[in-house]
Amino acid sequence: MSYEQRAKEKQDALIASGRATVLAIESSCDETACAIVRNGREVLSNTVHTQIPLHRKYGGVVPELASRNHVERIGAVVEAALTDADMTLQDIDAIAVTCGPGLVGALLVGVSYAKGLALSHDLPLIGTNHILGHIAANYLTFPDLEPPFTCLIASGGHSHIVRVEDYDRCTLIGRTRDDAAGEAFDKVARVLGLPYPGGPELEKLAKDGDPKAIRFRSAFNEREDEYDMSFSGLKTAVINVLHTSEQRGETINRADVAASFQYEVISILSDKAVRAASDTLALAGGVSANAALRNMLARKSQKKGIRFCCPDFKYCTDNAAMIGSAGYYLLMKGHRDGLDLNATPYLSVV
Ligand code: KG4
Ligand code: ZN
Repeated sequence: MSYEQRAKEKQDALIASGRATVLAIESSCDETACAIVRNGREVLSNTVHTQIPLHRKYGGVVPELASRNHVERIGAVVEAALTDADMTLQDIDAIAVTCGPGLVGALLVGVSYAKGLALSHDLPLIGTNHILGHIAANYLTFPDLEPPFTCLIASGGHSHIVRVEDYDRCTLIGRTRDDAAGEAFDKVARVLGLPYPGGPELEKLAKDGDPKAIRFRSAFNEREDEYDMSFSGLKTAVINVLHTSEQRGETINRADVAASFQYEVISILSDKAVRAASDTLALAGGVSANAALRNMLARKSQKKGIRFCCPDFKYCTDNAAMIGSAGYYLLMKGHRDGLDLNATPYLSVV
């Protein structure tokens, strides 16, 4: 019997039982991560090696360095995840791996490693969309949450409002026309002289500032009939304010700039997402770690009388537990990949 046949038999048996312990790998950007997740909801271990110190001196992720570091670390990260769960590969039922979107060289490290594990242990292989993973971070935090629901995805590469129709299917409600929210945070943080990664640093600085000090208007985002968003004009507005004050020889309160910019971004995201939701609204992606955004969404959702869910802080930024949850549901819905699985840098979620 070929690997393909054995993997299919194994998947059929798992679907029949409804149970599966999934080993998941995430290497799409600057985190090498492995987790073991039981039945899509129970995290048995969650190991993350971050490359932030490696990229900090360059002010952003250097793809080639990221790929090499993934290669160096992935073996130890997978070992650690198994040890933390007190398991061996004999206890694993399936392998899930992020296959896109992300940096192609970084993704390929995880995909290749996952293929090796699947082939050597006759396990089903599930290529998993990173964004579906971010959405699934909510399943880990809210055991009763099930599709359908509305979700705001805000990460370094995505700002989408989607309807999560099912565990493996989303439809688009709105998206950014230019920069993603996290990208805007990172770019503004850079002009404010903050280190990479900019989002969390900007949030820290904003705590000391007045969010109403400067009004960064963006006409596009004020349209009530529109779910698409735009953040690049806002970023330019911040740069203009900083340049103007510099040219005039004035000192500007950087904390006020950070707080005012953050206030405008989270207002746009929360206004549109809450308007799009009618029952449950979930938040996903790295920017979901922003406490001001979480609080604003919670407040506006409560006012509208809808449920609001956001992941535990440890599942907000990139991790493999979320991939293990998303991968479990893909497996149960009959998705499975062959050993020809490839990395897809621009893989879409809708
Ligand atoms: O989901 P993620 O970890 O990686 C991608 O899939 O892109 O998101 C990373 C993004 C970065 O742009 C980072 O600056 C932003 O999320 N981010 C934040 C915060 N924590 C991470 N943005 C604002 N406030 C935060 N606390
Ligand atoms: Zn991510």
